[in-house]
Amino acid sequence: MSIESEADLIGITKVSEVVAITLKKMREHARPGMTTKELDNYGYEILHSFSAKSAPKVTYNFPGYTCISVNNEAAHGIPSDKTVLKEGDLVNIDVSAELGGYFADNGGSFVVGEDIHGLNKLVDTSTSALHKALKEIKGGVRISDIGRIIETEAKRNGFKVIRNLVGHGVGRSLHEAPHEIPCFYDKFNTQRFRKNTVVAVETFISTKGSYTRDKGDGWTLLAEKGGFVAQHEHTILITDGEPVILTKANGI
Ligand code: CO
Ligand code: CO
Repeated sequence: MSIESEADLIGITKVSEVVAITLKKMREHARPGMTTKELDNYGYEILHSFSAKSAPKVTYNFPGYTCISVNNEAAHGIPSDKTVLKEGDLVNIDVSAELGGYFADNGGSFVVGEDIHGLNKLVDTSTSALHKALKEIKGGVRISDIGRIIETEAKRNGFKVIRNLVGHGVGRSLHEAPHEIPCFYDKFNTQRFRKNTVVAVETFISTKGSYTRDKGDGWTLLAEKGGFVAQHEHTILITDGEPVILTKANGI
């Protein structure tokens, strides 16, 4: 969305804080032995306390309030009472919501409990790639140049990036223009970031493949070849200088 008024700025700031606080609290709440459905219900309680509605539910009728993807699930995992979190699991929580007609989106991967499978390097690469990219985003910058920064940081650490999942515009709806903010260098993408617009920038850093595949449940996307994917996402407001990280309260 483009910020046209003080009301727009207040509205997008508020919903961004709500999704950020929800994500942070859910991450802190996650522990071995908990099901992803319990974690999702906890997230619902927080969103509900702010009168915010789950964006994937209102937009796509997603069967959960938040997306929770575990281990080889790369994105859009369905919270389930059959999925029990274990020590060392790689978990991604993606929280997006609507409040007062405004939408914000954020997400983050983390390891539950002790990092017994050595996945923290993947997680740390994803967060550092996101922050390196965000620092360079301002009005007039090519979207493809930001993808290059994320891809370079992934490769420097021995990882790949996922090419079929992308960041996007956000604000008046969950997914809006620009529809593709890839985390790789896409030479065919000639679009530029515009000042006073709101976008969700996302990393998808992978240990093995460059694409995800359908799990077959209509939602969940799996990493290829038994690999792992870490994602981190912030909703930001683009300016002439460094962007305003609207979901900063998630602590990522
Ligand atoms: Co998003
Ligand atoms: Co998201």
